Amino acid sequence: MIPQWIIEKKRDGHALSDEEIKFWIKGYTDGSIPDYQMAALAMAIYFKGMELPEISALTDAMMNSGSIVDTSSIGRYKADKHSTGGIGDKVSLILAPLVACCGIAIPMISGRGLGITGGTLDKMESISGYRTDLSIPEFLKVVDKCGCSIIGQTLDLAPADKKLYALRDVTGTVPSIPLISASIMSKKLAEGMNGLVLDIKHGNGAFMQTQEDAEALAKTMVGIGKNMGKGMTAVLTDMNQPLGRTAGNALEVVETIEALQGNGAPDLIEVTLTLSAQMLLLAEKADNLNEAITILQDHLDSGRAFEKFLQMIEMHGGDTKVINNPQLLPKANITHKYLATQTGYISQISAEKVGRACLELDAGRRAVTDKIDYAVGISDIHKIGDTVTHGDTIMTIHANNQQKLEMAIKELDTGIIISEEKPTTPTLIGKTIK
Ligand code: URA
Repeated sequence: MIPQWIIEKKRDGHALSDEEIKFWIKGYTDGSIPDYQMAALAMAIYFKGMELPEISALTDAMMNSGSIVDTSSIGRYKADKHSTGGIGDKVSLILAPLVACCGIAIPMISGRGLGITGGTLDKMESISGYRTDLSIPEFLKVVDKCGCSIIGQTLDLAPADKKLYALRDVTGTVPSIPLISASIMSKKLAEGMNGLVLDIKHGNGAFMQTQEDAEALAKTMVGIGKNMGKGMTAVLTDMNQPLGRTAGNALEVVETIEALQGNGAPDLIEVTLTLSAQMLLLAEKADNLNEAITILQDHLDSGRAFEKFLQMIEMHGGDTKVINNPQLLPKANITHKYLATQTGYISQISAEKVGRACLELDAGRRAVTDKIDYAVGISDIHKIGDTVTHGDTIMTIHANNQQKLEMAIKELDTGIIISEEKPTTPTLIGKTIK
């Protein structure tokens, strides 16, 4: 096959065959197809799109470019959750032990934060000693014994995607539904699970700004998974304001502990229970959503989910003293109260701006190689619709550097609006796509 003919075919809006896609990804992974041809094809896909069979073939080829985790030694239903990323999204930390309590195995391979969105791995690593680099046999052992394990991509998972994602990042080809879907699904499907629940976020702090785009992405990803014989559900959720009360790694671990001890922010608990319940339905552990939520709520209220979280931390070498006494987590030197400048309703508390403020504080990375500061971030975040009086604290900023604090405040100043009129609050949980 001639690479330029494949580029021309897509440029002219035709569907590529399975063989062409397989040939392409094999060639790109082994280096026989150079970056400039891959960039040209990615741009052609960006403009001309792909049909579901093409996206499924692309996903399959990228998934098979590396290893696939053999989870057959775990005799239970294996499920995972993936979120397209947001601000204050610590759902995975609560969901993994909670769903594991219901007899479902959660082998979770997570990513680090990049840009304004946080990453599950960074949050876990703010717990001293917690190893995110378990070998696959160690990982499977933890999943088997504890029911859940959260690790990073230590193995050769979907190397074609690793190369392609870096190229897309510098060639203006990231925001393409076929490319995003194949990228995420190739990595998730390589985990060897039976079912996957997707949290597709939309809003100013998300990849997808509109509900329509989020729905299109959700339908594509659900379609890919189903074509591969997996149980799939996607839930659309709002990311116009941060989820829960905190953003920043150690601060989010504190909030996770509070949630697992029965003091979770209502929005965080609602998203966690909704996604967890969908996992129970996929695994046929409940007949309907209400029954699933009752089961999950009982595991939360009884403290069993918290015990499971402790067990997972211990099995990963983490310091459980920190979980029992969150004061021991990394702490910033400066705490600054961000105050309301007038009385009224909070009508905007932009997730994007809170994310950017966290980035200024070093809670996130601008480049993959950046080091992050686990202690910094924002806590006590109010919600759209809350009433505030002039001088009230809207949130608390945790910083380790005065200059960075000032940069963070500047970001927040452009993202918070207080109005006299009661605003309409965004709908947190949107459509479910199966
Ligand atoms: N996350 C990924 O892993 N890939 C994308 O293309 C976008 C988000």
